[in-house]
Amino acid sequence: MPKYAFFRGDFVPIEEAKISIMTHAFNYGTGCFEGIRAYWNEEDEQLYIFRMPEHYERFHQSCRILHINLPYSVEKLGEITVELLRKEGYHEDTYIRPLAYKATEGIGVRLHGLEDDFALFAVPFGKYIEKEEGASVCVSPWRRISDNAVPARAKITGAYINSALAKTEAMLNGFDEAIVLNQNGHVSEGSAENIFIVRGGVLITPPVTANILEGITRATIMQIAREELGIETVERPIDRTELYVAEEAFFCGTGVQVAAIISVDHRPIGNGKMGPIVKKIRELYFDIVKGRVEKYRHWCTPVYLT
Ligand SMILES: Cc1ncc(COP(=O)(O)O)c(C=O)c1O
Repeated sequence: MPKYAFFRGDFVPIEEAKISIMTHAFNYGTGCFEGIRAYWNEEDEQLYIFRMPEHYERFHQSCRILHINLPYSVEKLGEITVELLRKEGYHEDTYIRPLAYKATEGIGVRLHGLEDDFALFAVPFGKYIEKEEGASVCVSPWRRISDNAVPARAKITGAYINSALAKTEAMLNGFDEAIVLNQNGHVSEGSAENIFIVRGGVLITPPVTANILEGITRATIMQIAREELGIETVERPIDRTELYVAEEAFFCGTGVQVAAIISVDHRPIGNGKMGPIVKKIRELYFDIVKGRVEKYRHWCTPVYLT
């Protein structure tokens, strides 16, 4: 359990960070959040927060979409986060959860004329899905929320019921994860992660107009694949059956990190094992997030003073 939270403008013991059952966001899902990872590097005795400014930029975008007035800049949010982690004193991989939400206690569905609030906590965190090295997945019967209904581009708390429906159905049916199609029937993403496939040695991922969350890991993968492995990514719609004939496939996201997909709807991907491109990307990714690659060290914010 964490010891502290940042709540109503101050650091408080976690037990004191409580909201009412009348809180608007609890009743209507009118909040947004981020998921940020910090990685413990044993050699450096340092905790590195991965791409924190990018996460807080996206947090600001989510707030803008929800008419949430966030009183903290990207820089200030970063300072609060570093201070919280120092207070916790974590020496292990950590998951950071900022939330901005409609805090008024009362009835009435809307976004305007309500008080906004911000909260932050951080917990130790390991794997998000058990079989990171080989997930068996299905195409979900649930469709992805569309931009004109509930924008997936914003990380909206209430929108995650869509992810939860897909994830639980997949797991109750014996799969590790779900791939969700959008209203056009094209591949959108996983329940809480973006997806890439490999065809003809090239990476392919759905475009930002496919009702995906514009993932920071997705952008990271595209950059490191191009710069370190010389592999380009094509952003284009992906048909369901392209999943079945792909050479390789993987999920990526802050939580899931880089997870190989080894079967879709009971059809093996490639030879049914993690493929060589996914393997290389995973290795590179884990080195980068742990602050071991000088070129990308600027993506890693150190928490402790050395
Ligand atoms: C629906 C969804 N898609 C994609 C992602 C991946 O985004 P990122 O790489 O920024 O964490 C996430 C969460 O992290 C998500 O919840």
